[in-house]
Amino acid sequence: MSTILITGGAGFIGSHLVRRFVQHYPHYTIVNLDALTYAGNLENLRDVEHAPNYRFERADIRDPQALADIFNRYQPDGVIHLAAESHVDRSISNPMAFVETNVIGTVNLLNAARNLWGSATEGKRFYHVSTDEVYGSLGEEGFFTEETRYDPRSPYSASKAASDHFVRAYFHTYDLPVVLSNCSNNYGPYHFPEKLIPLMLKNIREEKPLPVYGDGKYTRDWLWVKDHASAIDTIFHKGRKGETYNIGGNNEWKNIDLVEALCDIMDGLLGREPGASRRLITFVKDRPGHDRRYAIDASKLKNELGWQPAIQAEEGFRETAKWYLENEEWLLRVSSGEYQRYYEQQYG
Ligand code: NAD
Ligand code: DAU
Repeated sequence: MSTILITGGAGFIGSHLVRRFVQHYPHYTIVNLDALTYAGNLENLRDVEHAPNYRFERADIRDPQALADIFNRYQPDGVIHLAAESHVDRSISNPMAFVETNVIGTVNLLNAARNLWGSATEGKRFYHVSTDEVYGSLGEEGFFTEETRYDPRSPYSASKAASDHFVRAYFHTYDLPVVLSNCSNNYGPYHFPEKLIPLMLKNIREEKPLPVYGDGKYTRDWLWVKDHASAIDTIFHKGRKGETYNIGGNNEWKNIDLVEALCDIMDGLLGREPGASRRLITFVKDRPGHDRRYAIDASKLKNELGWQPAIQAEEGFRETAKWYLENEEWLLRVSSGEYQRYYEQQYG
């Protein structure tokens, strides 16, 4: 392979993936295609923007003509598709944006790849990055496997589920060489502060209320974002055509326990008295349709391709907290303007 198009490369996970590919594969040309929505930020890629094997194209995956033009110019051999509307709470207030980008945008991209490659698909690959939320919600026991029935329950997860179905349909119908992964919650640097961990770190620093939804006993399986990027790298290069791989951290936390742990880490780093930030925790109205528990069984990926997460939770959470303290400028820039309006609307 020589040219790889990564969509959504200016976002949270995408920027880690672009950086990894630019640095690890100097013989590939990496084209980052991103519309730069509120969640996309080229500052996330400052350290690689002048690399000789990196290109940026500002384009919207909802625009098939723009995609055709970029595919014709770069002739990519591989596509890794991350561009999406990614926040569940926003999908509840504006579902159509999720249909347009996550469903129609994905089909536009499938068409662009199909139009370029035709039947000459030897050495080509279309990788669709998806989420564990397509499987719905677990009770106290059990894990999501690749065979778990789809049961999406938010407009976000329904749109991702629809996109997954389209990707598999293009494999079966047109023999497009696809591969998919469904991953659990990521955390780490450059995470937009609408999501739980960066929002809590920001508010702890600013001594603002820490809004915990419902009873706080909702559970997520947290994965260090660079481990997700390494899993995508492994699956992109070694995964079998037409297959799906679950990716997870084997790292379940109830939200309230996680928020308390973040409070304690931040108190230590900021030199505050122990327990000071826990006093900011405020239970607020629950998210409608809130999934109770996610947990991933990633044994297929481990047994077949040998991938495992490299970083443990305590180390990852501490690294993340330190990054947000050391990168206050970034945090201030991404949370000005539109973010303020969103925060006001969401938290009142
Ligand atoms: P993000 O919101 O941080 O970034 C999304 C990126 O996509 C942004 O750079 C944005 O500008 C771009 N984008 C949005 N709409 C676009 C459009 N119409 N055209 C072109 N670009 C557009 O998202 P993220 O958290 O990095 O998630 C990336 C992918 O990984 C998504 O597909 C998401 O569903 C999936 N995923 C995320 C997680 C997680 O925990 N964050 C877990 C599993 C899977
Ligand atoms: O599981 C993978 C998914 O993880 C990804 O597909 C999504 O793109 C990503 O946003 C994430 O979805 P969640 O809804 O799990 O993440 P979020 O950070 O929004 O919320 C995590 C948990 O914390 C969830 O139970 C809701 C709760 N929460 C969230 C916020 C923003 C709160 O209690 N308070 C909050 O203010």
